[in-house]
Amino acid sequence: MTQDKNQNLPPQIMLYGNPALEQIAEEVDFESDDAEKLDGQIIEMIATMYSYGGIGLAGPQINITKRIIVWDHQWVQTKKKYENLHVMINPEIIEESSEDLALYEGCLSIPEVEGSVYRPREIKVRYVDADFETKEETFSGMDARVIQHEIDHLNGTLFVNKMTKFERDAIIPFLVALRQAYRKYSEGENDNDGSSTS
Ligand code: CO
Repeated sequence: MTQDKNQNLPPQIMLYGNPALEQIAEEVDFESDDAEKLDGQIIEMIATMYSYGGIGLAGPQINITKRIIVWDHQWVQTKKKYENLHVMINPEIIEESSEDLALYEGCLSIPEVEGSVYRPREIKVRYVDADFETKEETFSGMDARVIQHEIDHLNGTLFVNKMTKFERDAIIPFLVALRQAYRKYSEGENDNDGSSTS
């Protein structure tokens, strides 16, 4: 693993301003999608989440436009990867509590930004796990929080769009600057030869 670092570099995370983050990801179709490819994509997502120090990642963040999320909100504290790792394919919130809760969120795609977001305290989710089995499960606390944040990514929604107005107003100039920076950067790449996907 340490021999050739260049070959083991994790994929780049799509950053705020990249249109890839604003698209609706496709359902995984277990009839027509290649299971081996799907496994590879899930492994890539897990490796990327851990290597960037994240607690959750959605497919579109590394340009996998499929409805897949991975999350593990405990490893940063326990330092134990994989113990609390979750993989959800085609996750769908089928019930949510009427009571909302404000918690701080951040996102690998929007570095340096944090803010409080109101979301239902408890959710029931139907999803397909890494063994391709369909499950229904109720989550609360940080679990519910991370799942909702990641499912939003699958729908092209970022947490900054849901931040409380007061906090959002304060970061708007920064978000505008990020969008401009992205545009400038992607134009520069297109000037070369257009093959900018990594
Ligand atoms: Co995020």
